[in-house]
Parts: sequence; C-alpha cells; structure tokens
Amino acid sequence: MRIEIVDDYEMLSKRAATLVLEAVAQKPELVLALPTGNTPIGMYKELVKAYRDGRTDISRLWAFALDEYAGVAPEDEHSFAFFLRHHFIDQVGLGDRFDHLHGNAPDLAAECIRYEQAILAKGGLDLAVLGLGVNGHIAFNEPGTAFDSRAHVVDLAASTREANAGYFPDGFRIPDKGVTMGIGTVLGADKILVIASGKNKAPIVDRIINSDPTTDIPASALKNHPHVLLLLDEDAASEYKRRLA
Ligand code: PGA
Repeated sequence: MRIEIVDDYEMLSKRAATLVLEAVAQKPELVLALPTGNTPIGMYKELVKAYRDGRTDISRLWAFALDEYAGVAPEDEHSFAFFLRHHFIDQVGLGDRFDHLHGNAPDLAAECIRYEQAILAKGGLDLAVLGLGVNGHIAFNEPGTAFDSRAHVVDLAASTREANAGYFPDGFRIPDKGVTMGIGTVLGADKILVIASGKNKAPIVDRIINSDPTTDIPASALKNHPHVLLLLDEDAASEYKRRLA
C-alpha cells in the first residue's frame, strides 16, 4: 500500500481527480467504482470542472456505485444513487453508463448477484475509489466482514449510522441495513484509491497502516492488494506522522 500525503482537502480533491483522469486517459472505457460521502465531493467537483473545461473525455467510462441504503429507492434524495447522480453522473452526461445497487429491490440477495454480474460483464473493475469510515469500513463493509465477500446485505454499524445522520438535516432516519459491494469485489479492482481527509480519520488511518490485515479493520484488507494508494491530507495523516516523529 503506497501512502501519499497532501496539504489539505483541496489538494486531496485535485490529486484524486487527476488520478481518475489519468486512468481514463489510459483506458477510455474505464470501469470505475465510486464512493458516496463528504470526502469525495471535492473530487467530483474537480472532475466536473475538467469535463466542462473540455480537459477530459469521460463519456465512455462505466460507473458503479459502491453501496446503498437498503429499502431506499434510487430516486429518493437520500439514496447514494441520487447523491452520485447529483454530484457527478448527471453533471457529465453518464446517466446511461451508471449502475448501482437498487436499495428498494424486492429481493436484495438477487440484486446483489445481478450487480456482481453487471460488473463482470464490463470486464471487472479497473479502478475503485474508496472513502474510509471512522471504524475502517470500506463501502458498507463493516468490521467482521470476510475479505472474500461479494456484494451483500449488511447491518450498518452504530458509528456509521451516526456519522451518516449528519448528512440529512431533514431528520431522515438512516436505515439499519445497507447493501454493498463486498471486500472481495473491491479487491478485484486492478487499482484502488482510498481518500481520507480530516482529523477524525487520523486514528483509523494510523491503525490501518500499523496493523496486519484483520477483519476487525476492513480497510486493512487492502494491504493484500498490489496496487493501492492511500491518499491523505495532513489532518488524516497526523496520528501516523506523530508516531513516525
Ligand atoms: P465520509 O464517509 O467521506 O463522509 O467521511 C466515508 C465513509 O463512511 O465511507
């Protein structure tokens, strides 16, 4: 796992966007897994800007959302599908090349199988961009998830539900369950980019870097993958750097 530290959130967003654009330049039909959350918003802004400025042709990539709330329809403004459309997909005209888990599917287990097959049908993930939960989750793979897991339904951790409650001032109740690509699905990507920003991520970043792979820390599974970049801002890297000092 390579580690790269940049000054602040703005630099992180620019650097992450640059890495995605480089990957698209190398392979225009890039199969890309995309995260939801506060962290990637700046990256999406940079990508949209590059698209509007004509600095990139991203019209041929395939986008797959990492995860979704169970029981929430894609049209619902609280869904991750809605978030991704709003911040990125619809801004760059990728509506027909975007797939996601349908949180309101009547049979979520069948939906998970459909989703895995849809990714495979495009040749598998080339690049997975991941945020990082304060408990080390990647996508909605909470502590205890098997490293070889494929798309599945999950019970969301209390810390995840608390962290996500802040997104919705309208009092939307965060569902107890989510549906997500598995850790095995993510590890199937040729390259993985993890982005983490802010002091609240500093303890988990330090734990990931300094522990052996363990299912207690889902993101530690990434240490088994040959092409992972952990992109941090100074705040997220602060505990790790303090230990080095
Ligand atoms: P965040 O979420 O970017 O809002 O911190 C990350 C995550 O929980 O995966």
